[in-house]
Amino acid sequence: MTSAAGPTLADRLREHFGHRDHLYGVLLAEMADDWDEGGLTRELFDGWEDAEARQFPQLRLLAGLFRLVLRGEAPQLVPYYACLGGDEDPADAWAAVRPVLAAHTEELRSALDEAPQTNEPARTVALLVGLSEAVRRTGIRRVRLLEPGASAGLGLLPDRYRYVGDGWSHGPADAPLVVEDCGAAGFAPEAFEVVDRRGCDVAPVDASSTDGATYLRSFVWPWMLERHVRLDGALAALRTTPVALDRARAADWVAARLADPVPDDVLTVVWHSVTRMYWPLEESLALEAAVTEARSRIPVSHISMENPWASDARVPDTTPGRLPVVEVDGEVVASCGHHGPPVTLAAAG
Ligand SMILES: C[S@@+](CC[C@H](N)C(=O)[O-])C[C@H]1O[C@@H](n2cnc3c(N)ncnc32)[C@H](O)[C@@H]1O
Repeated sequence: MTSAAGPTLADRLREHFGHRDHLYGVLLAEMADDWDEGGLTRELFDGWEDAEARQFPQLRLLAGLFRLVLRGEAPQLVPYYACLGGDEDPADAWAAVRPVLAAHTEELRSALDEAPQTNEPARTVALLVGLSEAVRRTGIRRVRLLEPGASAGLGLLPDRYRYVGDGWSHGPADAPLVVEDCGAAGFAPEAFEVVDRRGCDVAPVDASSTDGATYLRSFVWPWMLERHVRLDGALAALRTTPVALDRARAADWVAARLADPVPDDVLTVVWHSVTRMYWPLEESLALEAAVTEARSRIPVSHISMENPWASDARVPDTTPGRLPVVEVDGEVVASCGHHGPPVTLAAAG
């Protein structure tokens, strides 16, 4: 039903997944039909018909619905949420979901204001690889971690998780989160001690609160059981090792933290993952300048897991299939999956 004016919201809902193989595929297809028929979906998305595609209002709505289920306000939907133990056929979900949408229309419309926000703890395998390289280069094992774009701070706990790769493992045997299938054949993890950890985000999430944890979980698609298990483990680690988070933009915050006093025998590590693509270019440049300035005063390493810059311009290369790279002080040391594993060391090609 694409018109000369471009795809309608119904087209975008229908095409988002383009199939009915899982719960969200079914619900978006049903909502698209409902929108075309002038149903409740029109009211839910009223005012969002011309939203930019990258705002994904459909995912915001599904996260709002998931929050209702997680809070126990729609128990009749639990059977459709695999991460909550449900095993009902998603093909039948619409008849149960539609009355919930009708009963919570105002709240779900508010959910459209919340941009999807995830915090993937397995990305810390990239930090482990980068940290080990930084420790080898500097000979310093006491580490102060600074993470801009930290979301809920789950990326600040690399010493609290266990990692299992090809021929190596690292981390406490009783860790609440075990990151499996890390790959990185030939990798030799270095011992390190995190003596301080702090993060910032323009929209930090306090995942130590029930509401914060629910908020974070609501953006993890319900049939992705491994990601829910990882989130459970990371939240358990956070309970014993709380992290400090500031509401701030990346570059100014990093510059300010790098000016804080720090003992001589501590390596300051500025680390970030899958956030730089959301920063304006000036933010990236200002952060790099702050790190460069600090190097003349203190030991600093800059570790990132980000989509690389395009070959011809300082814009993130988001070509489909392009993997993130792990960089230490601007040098690519590995590539990895979008959620971390598996890692391929640069030396291994
Ligand atoms: C895709 S999430 C990644 C979060 C986390 N680093 C991870 O890898 O799981 C991107 C995060 O960057 C944050 N963000 C976007 N622009 C930012 C900025 N200019 N300064 C600080 N944080 C920013 C967002 O709020 C969001 O939490």
